[in-house]
Amino acid sequence: MEWNSLDSMAILVFFVLLPVMFLLSTLVHFKVSCSKLPYPPGPKGFPLIGNTSMMGHLNHKSLAELGKRYGGIVHLHIGKLHMVSVTTPEIARQVLQVQDNIFSDRPVNGAIKYLTYGRSDMVFANYGPFLRQMRKLCVVKLFSRKREESWSAVREEVDSTIETVLRQTGSSVNVGQLAFIHSMNVTFRAAFGLSDAKADGNKDYFISILQEYSELLGALNLADFFPWLNWIDPQGLSTRLVKARKSIDGFIDTIIDDHIEKHNSNGGAVDKDMVDELLAFYGEDDKKNVVHDGVKVSVSLSRDNIKGIIMDVMFGGVETVASTIEWVMAQLLHSPDDLRKVEEELNEVIGLNRRVQETDLNNLTYLKCCIKETLRLHPPVPLLLHENSQETEVAGYTIPSRSRIMINTYAICRSKDAWADADTLPFGSGRRSCPGMQLGIYELELTLAHLLHCFSWNLPNGMEPSDMNMNDMPGLTAPREVRLVAVPSTRLNGPVL
Ligand code: HEM
Repeated sequence: MEWNSLDSMAILVFFVLLPVMFLLSTLVHFKVSCSKLPYPPGPKGFPLIGNTSMMGHLNHKSLAELGKRYGGIVHLHIGKLHMVSVTTPEIARQVLQVQDNIFSDRPVNGAIKYLTYGRSDMVFANYGPFLRQMRKLCVVKLFSRKREESWSAVREEVDSTIETVLRQTGSSVNVGQLAFIHSMNVTFRAAFGLSDAKADGNKDYFISILQEYSELLGALNLADFFPWLNWIDPQGLSTRLVKARKSIDGFIDTIIDDHIEKHNSNGGAVDKDMVDELLAFYGEDDKKNVVHDGVKVSVSLSRDNIKGIIMDVMFGGVETVASTIEWVMAQLLHSPDDLRKVEEELNEVIGLNRRVQETDLNNLTYLKCCIKETLRLHPPVPLLLHENSQETEVAGYTIPSRSRIMINTYAICRSKDAWADADTLPFGSGRRSCPGMQLGIYELELTLAHLLHCFSWNLPNGMEPSDMNMNDMPGLTAPREVRLVAVPSTRLNGPVL
């Protein structure tokens, strides 16, 4: 009898209750998904793998084309990862300004986590109180106009770049390479205070590490979308990652140790570079409080944080500035009328009997416009990568939590519906915007004013402006496809230096 009642109970559960529960949960799920707004439109993917076949096309140009076909907001997915591409000013404003609090995290993959010491840096950290303090510290202590050392690093390196060009007058100069070395030297000097011959060996080594890092940070790893592929490591990235991190560890650890030693032996009375400034906040637990110009910074940095920030400065400040210098020079050589107007302005404001001084910059209106216009046409970071901390709605569509958001500044800056702050969009907008903007603009203006005032520039071997290749290379940054080569000749009446 007992068995019989247990049997009938089991039959009841198995054949009646379970199906009813299943039906109910399906109905509830169906109702929830029906009441939810749809995902943004986008190309149909295959079951499970989604849009994997588009992995090689997640760059600013292909995504701009996709935006034209599907609208200003497009949804893609690879494996479980949702991706949203934004190509119009209005929707970008929703993401970067109206819902800034939701969209201020960064998407990362396994390689990025490993290379940034578990997101101990600033660029890849998620938004929160620690990042806020770190950004405040960097803006106030490293990139502020009041931190004279960063600004004087720019001036000193401009002098040395002019000297380099002077030695090459009359011959072809690789402007792209010149701009990269210049920008690297400024950042190296401001960050590490190294400016002697010993630093040159370090620089070459460091440049090679940066290049490898840049490739690894930008590499799309299949295992990030399909974690079950992790054990196979289909692209063989693991060995490269371990090697790259070991190189950077050795390099930056030595620099940090040298700085600590220098500080201990001089009792702190030394010229301060960025590493010295960061070391003032070094400590594994207690927060250091520093008030600077009325701004209180309350943060304690670990060795990994310091290493991460140094990497950020190197990545954030070198390639962006270098590629803009090269693009401005290329745009001017491509448009001789504009080059002539810039030269006329320089003649009028400064004259040919002296070099540019910092106080002249405010009067070089046309040059400033050319720089802004170049940043609009060739934003050095063509896709801003953000992530949303929770599910939300944008433009009438559902954006699933933790989607990879790609804001296409390249497409937006070229769009007919202007973005209200078009001048600054190439530096991002909102909580994650570029903290080094002021320093970057100063570096661009001072360097270009000197290059264009001290020298006349011409295309080599009778090349015509219409022969120039004005294409960019899609990637994390958008440098020129072909390096700019031009021939300088002196313009000033007296000696250049
Ligand atoms: C032409 C010059 C520059 C341009 C166009 C530029 C552009 C940008 C852009 C677009 C972002 C991302 C914004 C976003 O995601 O919304 C960014 C972030 C950043 N930039 Fe710059 N940048 C420049 C120069 C510099 C310089 C000189 C430095 C430092 C010395 C720097 C340091 C950084 C850092 C640390 C971040 C990360 C901020 C964060 O994630 O919270 N940048 N920059």
